[in-house]
Amino acid sequence: MANDVIIALDFPTREETLTFLDRFPDGERKPFVKTGMELFYAGGPSIVREIKARGHKIFLDLKLHDIPNTVKRAMSVLSGLDVDMVNLHAAGGSVMMKAALEGLTRPDGSRPMLIAVTQLTSTDSAMLKNELLIDTPMAETVLSYARTAAASGLDGVVCSPLEAALVKERCGEAFCTVTPGIRFAGSAAGDQKRVMSPEQAAKNGCDYIVMGRPITQALDPAEAYRRACRDFLGLQA
Ligand code: C5P
Repeated sequence: MANDVIIALDFPTREETLTFLDRFPDGERKPFVKTGMELFYAGGPSIVREIKARGHKIFLDLKLHDIPNTVKRAMSVLSGLDVDMVNLHAAGGSVMMKAALEGLTRPDGSRPMLIAVTQLTSTDSAMLKNELLIDTPMAETVLSYARTAAASGLDGVVCSPLEAALVKERCGEAFCTVTPGIRFAGSAAGDQKRVMSPEQAAKNGCDYIVMGRPITQALDPAEAYRRACRDFLGLQA
Protein backbone atom coordinates (compact mmCIF):
# COMPACT_ATOMS: atom_id res chain seq x y z
CA MET A 1 0.00 0.00 0.00
CA ALA A 2 1.32 3.44 -0.92
CA ASN A 3 1.56 5.85 2.00
CA ASP A 4 1.08 9.52 1.26
CA VAL A 5 0.44 13.02 2.53
CA ILE A 6 -2.92 14.38 1.29
CA ILE A 7 -3.46 18.15 1.27
CA ALA A 8 -7.06 19.18 2.06
CA LEU A 9 -7.98 21.85 -0.50
CA ASP A 10 -10.55 23.59 1.68
CA PHE A 11 -11.04 26.55 -0.64
CA PRO A 12 -14.39 27.98 -1.73
CA THR A 13 -13.55 28.68 -5.36
CA ARG A 14 -11.73 27.24 -8.36
CA GLU A 15 -9.55 30.37 -8.57
CA GLU A 16 -8.28 30.14 -4.98
CA THR A 17 -7.65 26.43 -5.41
CA LEU A 18 -5.62 26.81 -8.59
CA THR A 19 -3.72 29.82 -7.21
CA PHE A 20 -2.76 27.65 -4.24
CA LEU A 21 -1.66 24.75 -6.46
CA ASP A 22 0.41 27.16 -8.56
CA ARG A 23 2.63 27.66 -5.51
CA PHE A 24 4.02 24.13 -5.88
CA PRO A 25 7.06 24.25 -8.18
CA ASP A 26 7.05 22.24 -11.40
CA GLY A 27 9.44 19.35 -11.34
CA GLU A 28 8.74 18.51 -7.69
CA ARG A 29 6.49 15.79 -6.28
CA LYS A 30 2.85 16.60 -7.16
CA PRO A 31 0.82 16.53 -3.93
CA PHE A 32 -2.09 14.11 -3.50
CA VAL A 33 -5.01 16.46 -2.74
CA LYS A 34 -8.45 16.19 -1.16
CA THR A 35 -11.42 18.10 -2.54
CA GLY A 36 -14.60 18.20 -0.50
CA MET A 37 -18.22 19.17 -0.94
CA GLU A 38 -17.59 22.92 -0.82
CA LEU A 39 -15.28 22.98 -3.84
CA PHE A 40 -17.13 20.23 -5.72
CA TYR A 41 -20.50 21.96 -5.36
CA ALA A 42 -18.93 25.28 -6.39
CA GLY A 43 -16.65 24.05 -9.19
CA GLY A 44 -18.35 20.83 -10.29
CA PRO A 45 -16.68 17.95 -12.09
CA SER A 46 -14.63 20.38 -14.20
CA ILE A 47 -12.49 21.52 -11.25
CA VAL A 48 -11.75 17.87 -10.48
CA ARG A 49 -10.69 17.25 -14.09
CA GLU A 50 -8.60 20.41 -14.05
CA ILE A 51 -6.71 19.39 -10.89
CA LYS A 52 -6.25 15.89 -12.27
CA ALA A 53 -4.89 17.27 -15.55
CA ARG A 54 -2.21 19.05 -13.52
CA GLY A 55 -0.97 15.66 -12.39
CA HIS A 56 -2.39 15.45 -8.87
CA LYS A 57 -3.95 12.38 -7.33
CA ILE A 58 -7.39 13.27 -5.90
CA PHE A 59 -9.37 12.11 -2.88
CA LEU A 60 -12.94 13.21 -3.61
CA ASP A 61 -14.41 13.63 -0.14
CA LEU A 62 -18.17 13.65 -0.81
CA LYS A 63 -19.23 11.15 1.90
CA LEU A 64 -22.06 9.45 0.00
CA HIS A 65 -24.97 8.02 1.99
CA ASP A 66 -28.19 6.95 0.27
CA ILE A 67 -30.02 3.82 -0.84
CA PRO A 68 -27.72 1.23 -2.47
CA ASN A 69 -28.91 1.79 -6.04
CA THR A 70 -28.48 5.56 -5.86
CA VAL A 71 -25.01 5.26 -4.36
CA LYS A 72 -24.01 2.67 -6.95
CA ARG A 73 -25.04 4.95 -9.81
CA ALA A 74 -23.42 8.01 -8.26
CA MET A 75 -20.19 6.08 -7.71
CA SER A 76 -20.25 5.00 -11.33
CA VAL A 77 -20.32 8.68 -12.37
CA LEU A 78 -17.48 9.51 -9.96
CA SER A 79 -15.30 6.66 -11.27
CA GLY A 80 -15.50 8.34 -14.69
CA LEU A 81 -13.80 11.41 -13.20
CA ASP A 82 -10.64 9.36 -12.79
CA VAL A 83 -10.25 10.23 -9.10
CA ASP A 84 -8.01 8.08 -6.90
CA MET A 85 -10.01 7.85 -3.68
CA VAL A 86 -13.67 8.42 -2.77
CA ASN A 87 -15.68 7.88 0.39
CA LEU A 88 -19.09 7.10 1.84
CA HIS A 89 -20.73 6.73 5.24
CA ALA A 90 -20.42 3.24 6.71
CA ALA A 91 -23.80 3.94 8.37
CA GLY A 92 -25.36 3.23 4.95
CA GLY A 93 -24.72 -0.45 5.68
CA SER A 94 -23.00 -3.36 3.97
CA VAL A 95 -25.46 -3.62 1.06
CA MET A 96 -24.85 0.03 0.20
CA MET A 97 -21.07 -0.36 0.54
CA LYS A 98 -21.00 -3.40 -1.76
CA ALA A 99 -23.22 -1.58 -4.28
CA ALA A 100 -20.82 1.38 -4.13
CA LEU A 101 -17.89 -0.89 -4.97
CA GLU A 102 -19.77 -2.30 -7.94
CA GLY A 103 -20.63 1.15 -9.23
CA LEU A 104 -17.09 2.36 -8.78
CA THR A 105 -15.46 -0.47 -10.71
CA ARG A 106 -14.63 0.60 -14.26
CA PRO A 107 -15.10 -1.67 -17.27
CA ASP A 108 -11.36 -2.54 -17.20
CA GLY A 109 -11.67 -3.70 -13.56
CA SER A 110 -9.79 -0.72 -12.08
CA ARG A 111 -11.39 1.55 -9.50
CA PRO A 112 -10.57 4.38 -7.09
CA MET A 113 -9.93 3.40 -3.47
CA LEU A 114 -13.15 3.37 -1.45
CA ILE A 115 -12.93 4.59 2.14
CA ALA A 116 -15.64 4.64 4.81
CA VAL A 117 -16.44 7.37 7.31
CA THR A 118 -17.39 5.68 10.60
CA GLN A 119 -18.72 8.30 13.01
CA LEU A 120 -18.10 11.96 12.25
CA THR A 121 -15.81 13.58 14.80
CA SER A 122 -18.54 16.17 15.34
CA THR A 123 -20.69 13.41 16.86
CA ASP A 124 -19.98 13.06 20.58
CA SER A 125 -21.02 10.30 22.98
CA ALA A 126 -24.12 12.19 24.18
CA MET A 127 -25.35 12.69 20.61
CA LEU A 128 -24.64 9.03 19.79
CA LYS A 129 -26.83 7.94 22.68
CA ASN A 130 -29.54 10.61 22.74
CA GLU A 131 -30.03 11.42 19.07
CA LEU A 132 -28.80 8.39 17.13
CA LEU A 133 -30.07 6.05 19.88
CA ILE A 134 -26.84 3.99 19.81
CA ASP A 135 -26.04 2.69 23.30
CA THR A 136 -22.73 1.07 22.32
CA PRO A 137 -19.76 3.25 23.35
CA MET A 138 -18.20 5.43 20.64
CA ALA A 139 -14.91 3.51 20.23
CA GLU A 140 -16.71 0.20 19.87
CA THR A 141 -19.20 1.71 17.41
CA VAL A 142 -16.35 3.08 15.27
CA LEU A 143 -14.52 -0.28 15.26
CA SER A 144 -17.70 -2.17 14.45
CA TYR A 145 -18.42 0.12 11.48
CA ALA A 146 -14.80 -0.33 10.37
CA ARG A 147 -15.12 -4.13 10.52
CA THR A 148 -18.36 -3.98 8.48
CA ALA A 149 -16.59 -1.78 5.91
CA ALA A 150 -13.68 -4.26 5.72
CA ALA A 151 -16.08 -7.21 5.40
CA SER A 152 -17.89 -5.37 2.57
CA GLY A 153 -14.63 -5.15 0.63
CA LEU A 154 -13.81 -1.48 1.23
CA ASP A 155 -10.18 -0.38 1.31
CA GLY A 156 -10.13 1.48 4.59
CA VAL A 157 -11.62 4.10 6.89
CA VAL A 158 -11.16 7.72 7.77
CA CYS A 159 -10.22 7.76 11.45
CA SER A 160 -8.34 9.68 14.08
CA PRO A 161 -4.57 8.99 14.03
CA LEU A 162 -5.02 7.83 17.62
CA GLU A 163 -7.35 5.04 16.44
CA ALA A 164 -5.22 3.90 13.49
CA ALA A 165 -3.26 1.20 15.31
CA LEU A 166 -6.44 -0.31 16.77
CA VAL A 167 -8.22 -0.26 13.39
CA LYS A 168 -5.26 -2.14 11.89
CA GLU A 169 -5.30 -4.63 14.73
CA ARG A 170 -9.04 -5.35 14.32
CA CYS A 171 -9.44 -5.06 10.54
CA GLY A 172 -6.09 -6.30 9.29
CA GLU A 173 -2.83 -4.66 8.26
CA ALA A 174 -3.95 -4.23 4.63
CA PHE A 175 -7.03 -2.23 5.66
CA CYS A 176 -5.99 1.33 5.21
CA THR A 177 -6.29 4.30 7.57
CA VAL A 178 -6.76 7.84 6.31
CA THR A 179 -6.21 10.24 9.16
CA PRO A 180 -6.96 13.97 9.53
CA GLY A 181 -6.09 15.82 12.74
CA ILE A 182 -2.37 16.13 11.92
CA ARG A 183 -0.26 19.02 13.15
CA PHE A 184 3.47 19.66 12.95
CA ALA A 185 5.18 19.16 16.28
CA GLY A 186 5.11 22.47 18.16
CA SER A 187 2.41 24.17 16.05
CA ALA A 188 -1.14 25.26 17.00
CA ALA A 189 -3.88 22.63 16.95
CA GLY A 190 -6.62 25.16 16.04
CA ASP A 191 -10.07 23.55 16.32
CA GLN A 192 -8.70 19.99 16.10
CA LYS A 193 -8.88 18.52 19.59
CA ARG A 194 -6.87 15.32 19.37
CA VAL A 195 -3.89 15.78 17.08
CA MET A 196 -0.73 13.91 16.16
CA SER A 197 2.44 14.92 14.33
CA PRO A 198 3.32 13.31 10.96
CA GLU A 199 6.17 11.30 12.59
CA GLN A 200 3.87 9.98 15.33
CA ALA A 201 1.19 9.18 12.73
CA ALA A 202 3.68 7.11 10.74
CA LYS A 203 4.65 5.20 13.89
CA ASN A 204 0.97 4.65 14.76
CA GLY A 205 0.16 2.88 11.49
CA CYS A 206 -1.52 5.71 9.54
CA ASP A 207 -1.32 5.05 5.81
CA TYR A 208 -2.46 8.46 4.56
CA ILE A 209 -2.39 11.67 6.56
CA VAL A 210 -4.73 14.51 5.58
CA MET A 211 -3.32 17.98 6.31
CA GLY A 212 -5.25 21.16 5.63
CA ARG A 213 -4.37 24.40 7.37
CA PRO A 214 -0.80 23.50 8.44
CA ILE A 215 -0.03 23.50 4.69
CA THR A 216 -2.72 25.73 3.11
CA GLN A 217 -2.18 28.57 5.61
CA ALA A 218 1.62 28.28 5.73
CA LEU A 219 3.68 31.22 4.49
CA ASP A 220 5.41 28.77 2.16
CA PRO A 221 2.99 25.89 1.44
CA ALA A 222 5.48 24.02 -0.76
CA GLU A 223 8.02 24.02 2.07
CA ALA A 224 5.36 22.92 4.60
CA TYR A 225 4.42 20.08 2.24
CA ARG A 226 8.08 19.07 1.87
CA ARG A 227 8.36 18.99 5.65
CA ALA A 228 5.22 16.81 5.94
CA CYS A 229 6.67 14.38 3.37
CA ARG A 230 10.03 14.28 5.14
CA ASP A 231 8.40 13.72 8.52
CA PHE A 232 5.76 11.20 7.40
CA LEU A 233 7.39 9.42 4.49
CA GLY A 234 11.05 9.99 5.30
CA LEU A 235 11.41 11.57 1.85
CA GLN A 236 13.78 14.38 1.01
CA ALA A 237 10.93 15.80 -1.08
O1 C5P B 1 -7.04 22.06 8.41
P1 C5P B 1 -7.04 20.65 8.93
O2 C5P B 1 -5.69 19.96 8.85
O3 C5P B 1 -7.66 20.52 10.29
O4 C5P B 1 -7.98 19.90 7.87
C1 C5P B 1 -8.34 18.57 8.01
C2 C5P B 1 -9.24 18.14 6.89
O5 C5P B 1 -9.74 16.85 7.21
C3 C5P B 1 -10.46 19.02 6.65
O6 C5P B 1 -10.76 18.96 5.24
C4 C5P B 1 -11.54 18.37 7.46
O7 C5P B 1 -12.82 18.60 6.96
C5 C5P B 1 -11.16 16.90 7.31
N1 C5P B 1 -11.63 16.01 8.37
C6 C5P B 1 -11.34 16.19 9.73
N2 C5P B 1 -11.80 15.31 10.65
C7 C5P B 1 -12.53 14.26 10.28
C8 C5P B 1 -12.83 14.04 8.93
C9 C5P B 1 -12.36 14.96 8.00
O8 C5P B 1 -10.66 17.14 10.06
N3 C5P B 1 -12.93 13.41 11.19
